Amino acid sequence: MAMLEVKDINVYYGAIHAIKGISLSVEEGEIVTLIGANGAGKSTTLRTISGLLKPKTGAINFLGKNIAGMPAHKIVREGISQVPEGRRIFAEMTVLENLELGAFTRNDKDEIKKDLEMVFGRFPRLKERITQLAGTLSGGEQQMLAMGRALMSRPKLLLLDEPSMGLAPLLIREIFSIIVDINKTGTTVLLVEQNANMALSIANRAYVLETGRITLSGDAKELAASEDVRKAYLGG
Ligand SMILES: Nc1ncnc2c1ncn2[C@@H]1O[C@H](COP(=O)(O)OP(=O)(O)OP(=O)(O)O)[C@@H](O)[C@H]1O
Ligand SMILES: [Mg+2]
Repeated sequence: MAMLEVKDINVYYGAIHAIKGISLSVEEGEIVTLIGANGAGKSTTLRTISGLLKPKTGAINFLGKNIAGMPAHKIVREGISQVPEGRRIFAEMTVLENLELGAFTRNDKDEIKKDLEMVFGRFPRLKERITQLAGTLSGGEQQMLAMGRALMSRPKLLLLDEPSMGLAPLLIREIFSIIVDINKTGTTVLLVEQNANMALSIANRAYVLETGRITLSGDAKELAASEDVRKAYLGG
């Protein structure tokens, strides 16, 4: 059984039918990427999995339980954590306060402390800036903070929405190598990206989304080599 199984979901914003019958699955241990143009429905799909939006129809099974329509904070408790598009860190709070908020579902103080050290191990730049207000961090540091905050809930499945957005190439490579590392240490990853080249280079499998529908899916390396995908998403 797949860790996450999204079955034929339909999602609306009022009268706008944003997701038109999407099905996808993520196996434990995988990195799966969802690629597609602006407005295709990538963020909507992630926000539905994390409970910020409710599907009108369809099921979302996570570790055998249907979580569709469950409130977002309960879904965090089930083991899914999302790093939203645009990071959404708490600008008026310090780096440490942001990370502590990521552990809101937990009350195991000693373990939380250990996980803080784990996050600082992955992101040494955050440790140097522990008392700095998050709003004054650089774009790359804010992305690291958003990822660190998500890791503080000890997710089994990490949802990442465009972690490369607005970052310089060198920093994108750094963030992607951290994603690979997080995955290697036991966290399953569902990654949404417009940077399809980078996403396909680290993913096991991929889904291509077009105006609310999945149009292609398969092995990431095979998709990266496919002419259709190259033309539409990889700059030829
Ligand atoms: N809050 C909202 N209200 C109404 N329509 C919305 C809302 N959010 C998104 N949409 C619409 O739903 C569709 C899918 O949007 P979504 O944000 O999921 O796309 P995306 O693939 O993440 O795009 P991008 O790459 O630009 O982030 C778009 O047509 C968008 O205009
Ligand atoms: Mg988006």
